[in-house]
Amino acid sequence: MNLTQLLNDMTLDEKIDQFIQLATFFYAGAETQGEITGPMEDMGISQEIIRNSGSVLGASGAKEVKNIQKVHLENNRLGIPLLMMADIVHGFKTIFPVPLAIGCSWDEELAERSAEIAAKEAAVSGVHVTFAPMVDLVRDPRWGRVMETTGEDPYLNSRFAKAFVRGFQGDDLTNDTDRVAACVKHFAAYGAPEGGRDYNTVNMSERELREYYLPAYKAALDEGCEMVMTAFNTVDGIPATGNKKLMRDLLREEWDFNGVMISDWGAVKELIPHGIAADESEAAFKAINAGVDIEMMTACYVKNLKDLVEAEEVKEELIDEAVIRILELKEKLGLFENPYRGADEQLEKEVIMSTEHREVAYELATKSCVLLKNEEILPLQKDKKIALIGPFANNGDILGQWSWQGSKEESVKIYEGMTNKVGIANVLTARGSGIDSATDDQFAEAVKIAKKADVIVLALGEKSEMSGEAGSRSNIRLPDVQLKLIEEMKKLNKPIVSVLINGRPLDLHGVYEESDGILEGWFPGTEGGRAIADLLYGDVNPSGRLTMSFPYNVGQVPVYYNHYNTGRPKDAPDAQDRYVSQYLDIPNEPLFPFGFGLSYTNYQYSDLTLSTDHLTANDEIEVSVKVKNVGSTKGEEVVQLYVRDLVGEVVRPLKELKAYQKIKLNPGEEREITFSLTEEQLRYYHADLSFESDTGKFKVFVGPNSRECLEQSFDLRK
Ligand code: NOJ
Repeated sequence: MNLTQLLNDMTLDEKIDQFIQLATFFYAGAETQGEITGPMEDMGISQEIIRNSGSVLGASGAKEVKNIQKVHLENNRLGIPLLMMADIVHGFKTIFPVPLAIGCSWDEELAERSAEIAAKEAAVSGVHVTFAPMVDLVRDPRWGRVMETTGEDPYLNSRFAKAFVRGFQGDDLTNDTDRVAACVKHFAAYGAPEGGRDYNTVNMSERELREYYLPAYKAALDEGCEMVMTAFNTVDGIPATGNKKLMRDLLREEWDFNGVMISDWGAVKELIPHGIAADESEAAFKAINAGVDIEMMTACYVKNLKDLVEAEEVKEELIDEAVIRILELKEKLGLFENPYRGADEQLEKEVIMSTEHREVAYELATKSCVLLKNEEILPLQKDKKIALIGPFANNGDILGQWSWQGSKEESVKIYEGMTNKVGIANVLTARGSGIDSATDDQFAEAVKIAKKADVIVLALGEKSEMSGEAGSRSNIRLPDVQLKLIEEMKKLNKPIVSVLINGRPLDLHGVYEESDGILEGWFPGTEGGRAIADLLYGDVNPSGRLTMSFPYNVGQVPVYYNHYNTGRPKDAPDAQDRYVSQYLDIPNEPLFPFGFGLSYTNYQYSDLTLSTDHLTANDEIEVSVKVKNVGSTKGEEVVQLYVRDLVGEVVRPLKELKAYQKIKLNPGEEREITFSLTEEQLRYYHADLSFESDTGKFKVFVGPNSRECLEQSFDLRK
């Protein structure tokens, strides 16, 4: 397709109408409402605008998508196909664990595979673009959307951002119709809202932004991610969606991004309540100048850009550039040749929720759950009587947010997973309580069956709406009624194992002390119950490691491993009792740190060795360590390497993750693991925003988590 010719044939109206993205139900040919994820309003737009529009939000299902496209092509003067976009975040119908859980697998290959499967199921259902990966760095578990990202570390988030993009896109979007284009989001720093309240203000220095928050978006783009979505928040006083410095200067100029930029839902018009635009015309003016091409679900562009161009306030070249980017994406996806692309009713039947896909969901779920506590109670013995109690004992709400196509009914519940393994005779069950309410009868029944059991397994947590978008909480403990349920169970003096289903790190008061074992299951997806049963009974050895700290309590938040030392660190040799940086009532340390997770075996670390005691610019240091499985169960260990720059121009974090390897070890097996470290990995943003390293002393830490490491040191010389 000659896109320049096509552009020349388009009227100004037709160009501008390409910019609007509307939900499914605007289109003739649609049978369903599609995916609604934001406020709706009557946009008062004409049929002509809909006929000329460029993309659809939330359409899926081969039949419906083909129908929408067919009717559209019959009515669109130039025959320009629609792009079908939707949120395929952690699976389409086969649902994988939520991204925060996927991060805890530290398994990039499997993460990539999950995205590939999500892409395939979505592509046969007619989707062309997914609004994923979400790579926002997070430090505040009050924010409900922490479940959508892989956590608090810029390096790990970047690795997973790349893995997801590879999985979604493959390497030939034109010919591989099983893949979809990816849209990294939310640019930028959406993960740092004040107070953890969704959509709230974000304020940070540019240095902080560049060092921690931007790397994962950049990593996704380096991997070829086709699109970028703006964020709802402000960045240094300017809403991201109207932020020229962020998009035009940084993303387009500095990073050379030529793909399509889309606003988040309604975010262009939200420039008005934010207070940087007086009306829709000014909102359109600011967003197009800042670099937003597609406006999702509001009509500021289609109603105002033409007047702005005619008044010579917005240059037509700006419009043309944006249109070309959209047309290029359509061309890359092969839509001019085949507007229906991968949509195929027959393949939908064969591919979606196939055994193969469910197996990957199962494997990833086993690797994503994190064993947080185990006082010799797990694994459960198969001949013991278990009382499985709690709101998640037999509940299909284990998929988490962004599983709008997933089916709770077709997901494996915990009860199902356990009874499939050991039979119904050994698993007594009662609900005990709802998520946030209970009746006396429910408690009484739980007590009755718990009395008959050897071990009580409590399946507790948050329902899916308690996290995700608009799912912020100020109290991140389990709801009171569930804490009461634990209390009642505790009176029976039997061992208690708590299995947690939730979308954020919780404050575990009322759970931690009371439980002999704790398995963090997150929202584990379609095969969740099966994976949890295998982990509880020890058929699979837990290998998940946290990628976001669990606070001691909410008063510590934000709490993250890669923080600074302060001038008055609590653990300094000359620290006083009082005048140090501390809380009077709680520890400084989180309950569980980044990288933490137990297994049913023990790994011993020894012989941390550096190949040299100094590093120069063109050289590398080999860091090796021996890791031995000293228990009697085979397992997988995540060997983590951190560094600390002892004296920087700018203060440096106490630890920074620089590399990791996930390895399998049989009982008694020892392996030597080697990492190489270069000067490049030690660079960071200095006060003048130059990206460079400091000469001088560095520490290297290797260990099973960010808290318990062996250490060595070296000098960087230039
Ligand atoms: C709003 C969310 O913030 C974003 O992540 C999502 O992709 C869009 N809605 C579209 O559903």
